[in-house]
Amino acid sequence: MYQAPRGTADILPQEQAYWRYIEEKASAICSLYGYERIDTPTFESTRLFARGIGDGTDIVQKEMYSFKDKGDNDITLRPEGTASVCRAYIEHGMANLPQPVKLFYLTSIYRYERPQAGRLREFHQFGYEAIGDADPVIDAEVIEMAWRFYQALGLKKISLIINSIGCSDCRPNYLDNLRKYYDKYVEQLCKDCRTRKERNTLRLLDCKQLTCQKFVDNAPKSEHFLCAACAGHFNLLKKYLDRMELPYTVDHKLVRGLDYYTRTVFEIQPEIEGSQNTLGGGGRYDNLIAELEGKPTPATGFAAGTERIILNLKREGIEVPPVKKPSVFLASMGENAREAAIKLASDLRQAGIGVIQSTGAKSLKAQLRQANNLDMQFAIIIGDEEVAAGTVVLKDMKGNRQETLPTDSLADRLTG
Ligand code: HAM
Repeated sequence: MYQAPRGTADILPQEQAYWRYIEEKASAICSLYGYERIDTPTFESTRLFARGIGDGTDIVQKEMYSFKDKGDNDITLRPEGTASVCRAYIEHGMANLPQPVKLFYLTSIYRYERPQAGRLREFHQFGYEAIGDADPVIDAEVIEMAWRFYQALGLKKISLIINSIGCSDCRPNYLDNLRKYYDKYVEQLCKDCRTRKERNTLRLLDCKQLTCQKFVDNAPKSEHFLCAACAGHFNLLKKYLDRMELPYTVDHKLVRGLDYYTRTVFEIQPEIEGSQNTLGGGGRYDNLIAELEGKPTPATGFAAGTERIILNLKREGIEVPPVKKPSVFLASMGENAREAAIKLASDLRQAGIGVIQSTGAKSLKAQLRQANNLDMQFAIIIGDEEVAAGTVVLKDMKGNRQETLPTDSLADRLTG
């Protein structure tokens, strides 16, 4: 039997209400903060992601779905949305628009990871990017928007963590200090951390191995090595977040898994699992556009994982509105009545009333049982007698009442 590939999932009809709910909340918050939708291709040239996300990251090293197409081009299924949006910003000359340009996306993402609850190989993100503004006001707004989004979804058991990892002026000094600190413990580090120390030093702070925790906890903190400009930026950001009464914590261990970040980084985590199953993350990336051969342009953004949101909505017992479906069942008896029913179903649907039509030669009892199983509010019954009289029988399935009324008054009765 064929099965969906490992790490992918069918989104079945009974799950769709969650997806619609999240999309609606996402679109609503984007229009409040002035973000416009962008959709970019599912695949891009491999170089874009290698360059943008960083050669030393787990994503580029181990997780990309990369292949050569039939024209011998190096292609990768998008492992995140930011690099693609920046490519589009440069390609379409959006630097000429009023800045910042604010764009959002709801899209599928591909990463070859080890699948588990909340971790898939094909998953989905709601993300947004504000490109062209270095003001910490924008950092505060991007963080606030993420927090308000989760609030609007009804999630309560979440926490907000922020940090500043400096810029290309002050980070090298910090990384030197971090490396020197870790030099003393090389023998005791896990295998991954030994590699990280040389290739991706910042990620040492993200190690989840128990044996490395004491080194992480006591490691030098990036906040103490910021240059004056980065320290000023971070202080203003915290002041603005305080002013909006956002309940954040500064955590020096927060470094994120992509190389493009500068200054602000932040995550929203579920209280129980913390960073193991982060709900969403983002930050500032002031060098990425230049790295992708655009004019140097500051930017900041965020992305939330849809599947992880759904997991947490279920855990917190949050009910979502059902997707609208037909509430009228149309039963008929005899060939004459069936033809009249076909026309009636067509008329009702054109009047905006959802109808499920009975098929086959079932008894009236069987048809009504079907209406009941489908949880219909009403059943319309037509037989030869009704056709001749130009009427229908309308049965209220919940109240168990029924009435006979002229066919041409039915649409008004059902919408009124
Ligand atoms: P990210 O932290 O790699 O950031 O991913 C954002 C979110 O996507 C995560 O917090 C998580 O909710 C979800 N996610 C990540 N991997 C998986 C997975 N394998 N299965 C299910 N959900 C997952 C980015 O992608 C950046 N582009 C965010 C950003 C936008 N930074 C600035 N602008």
